[in-house]
Amino acid sequence: MQIKSIEEYHQVYQQSVDQPEEFWAGIADNFLWRKKWDEVLEWNFKEPSIKWFQGAKLNITENCLDRHLETNGDTPAIIWEPNDPTEDHRILTYSQLHAKVCQFANVLKNNGTKKGDRICIYMPMVPELEIAVLACARIGAIHSVVFGGFSAQSIADRIKDAECNIVITADGSFRGTKEVPLKSVIDDALVQCPTIKKVIVLTRSRTPVSMIKGRDVWWEDEVKKVETQGNPDCPAEEMDAEDMLFILYTSGSTGKPKGVVHTCGGYMVYTGYTFTNAFQYQPGEVYFCTADIGWITGHSYIAYGPLTQGATSVLFEGVPTWPDAGRLWDIVEKHKVNILYTAPTAIRSLMSFGDDVIKGKDFSSLKKLGSVGEPLNEEAWHWFDEKIGQGKCPIVDTWWQTETGGFMISPIANVTPLKPGYATLPLPGVQPLLVDENGKEIEGNGVSGNLCIKFPWPGMLRTTYGDHERCRTTYFATYENLYFTGDGCLRDEDGYYRITGRVDDVLNVSGHRIGTAEVENAINMHSSVVESAVVGYPHDIKGQGVYAFVVSPNKHGDDELTRKDIIMTVSRIIGAIAKPDKIQFVSGLPKTRSGKIMRRILRKIAEGDTGNLGDTSTLLDPAIVDEIKEGAL
Ligand code: WTA
Repeated sequence: MQIKSIEEYHQVYQQSVDQPEEFWAGIADNFLWRKKWDEVLEWNFKEPSIKWFQGAKLNITENCLDRHLETNGDTPAIIWEPNDPTEDHRILTYSQLHAKVCQFANVLKNNGTKKGDRICIYMPMVPELEIAVLACARIGAIHSVVFGGFSAQSIADRIKDAECNIVITADGSFRGTKEVPLKSVIDDALVQCPTIKKVIVLTRSRTPVSMIKGRDVWWEDEVKKVETQGNPDCPAEEMDAEDMLFILYTSGSTGKPKGVVHTCGGYMVYTGYTFTNAFQYQPGEVYFCTADIGWITGHSYIAYGPLTQGATSVLFEGVPTWPDAGRLWDIVEKHKVNILYTAPTAIRSLMSFGDDVIKGKDFSSLKKLGSVGEPLNEEAWHWFDEKIGQGKCPIVDTWWQTETGGFMISPIANVTPLKPGYATLPLPGVQPLLVDENGKEIEGNGVSGNLCIKFPWPGMLRTTYGDHERCRTTYFATYENLYFTGDGCLRDEDGYYRITGRVDDVLNVSGHRIGTAEVENAINMHSSVVESAVVGYPHDIKGQGVYAFVVSPNKHGDDELTRKDIIMTVSRIIGAIAKPDKIQFVSGLPKTRSGKIMRRILRKIAEGDTGNLGDTSTLLDPAIVDEIKEGAL
């Protein structure tokens, strides 16, 4: 599946466009199927209805685990590095991981789980998180992993939306010096969730937790029960290619987060193929992706993609800045990492600590670097290249989304000539195009526009859980017969793609997607807030920061305290990741006569670019703009 030269890339790419079904059938042949497909692809972007490999039967965990046992059973699948570097690391080989997944799949069965049930997972970055995910897939249950930084309210919203009946969590998690009381957050969430019948709790932090009789059980006790039952194996459930594999919630420009749905067959083929091809993974290489399994990057490129290829992955529980800002580099050295896949925000943050923290570290094992989540600015690109890659490692800047399932536009390591700041060229099977506001294709090179995709790929989302119409309106209705990404993009003279950022009301804060409407709703919940508007502004480390303009006439004379109250409210409703960085109190928002907030003006003020605010004559109260400009933070 690996392309070995740029000439071969061009040739394979052309074939994938001319004969997409033959192309993908050829790729899919590299995977293990119980039964092959009757039809490779049936699709329309109108409804939308997208079906890959119909009629095929499989279980993704047989591809991730069973098929490696005979030849690679003793190969490490996971090298787990704990938060505290003085704690021992753990290695799980493919055989061991297989055994543990089967065991925990039996735990789930003992606790009443059936194929098609939805299971919420809220766990620290420990091997058991990956075990829980795979155990769900083993028995055909649909996982919905919620990132550990989300609040009880966010968890409750997700559990209710997916009607989950089981939660898998831990007593607590360690992140640097912090301890997060996961079970206690779950308890708060479950007050609102009558559908949850069982909570399985892993011991990690030994924080005291409340355990409710009949509902809450310990992971370790349940595993013991399976052991005494003497039932170590768990045959994999036979799944249709288009059966749901998981739901993952992500933010959009309106309303609540939506549950992006991925299915078994296409997602497996797509993540496995893109992983091995873009990173040119070689047997024995140690691969380290610093993302959290709570995000799509962790799903596709810590869990499923690498495991389908029999790769060895480092799983890291902690944060890059603890005990000091050299932690990632210590891990690279300790586990002799060959491929490091991380995010621009982490690179910029570590860069800001200066060269002292990289002095004396051994980077000699590194062969390939990767980046994901937001545009990798040139300064960070060069630092990553020179200081970490020592000028000898290609940087694979992968552009993709929760909805795309896997890499879309990305270099192939050591094949695609690189350009700093560019995701370079579409991978085979991916057909991007740029359109103007009216959906008209902008052809040729040296042009910019809104990035769309015109042909399906196996890893694409199929629906948004419980609300197919929302999937249609969000992604397929803006431009006829196109999937709209929400990103702006430049295609340069060489046909190279550079993603310029979101063109909708979605912020990208430290690589995390946050809907402005979502943050506004949370701010507006605060009792003294009348209304608010949230925009992004350039932030040196986070990429974008959250800037809130808030109308709050009743602050009891203490602006600072009210700011903190508002931040606390946002943390409660969404989670700490959505906290505003700046809150400016204003007496009103700039609105048109029809009552629409003119975000364009607020964005410019937040960016500090107040010289030319454009036409403000259509505003209801133009004077408000001067007031806001004056008080800008
Ligand atoms: C942005 C993360 C520039 C983009 C996998 C996209 C990027 C959103 C890149 C998806 C990149 C992701 N260069 N921008 N290499 N990768 N993005 O769903 O705006 O969390 O739409 O998926 O991140 O974020 P998501």
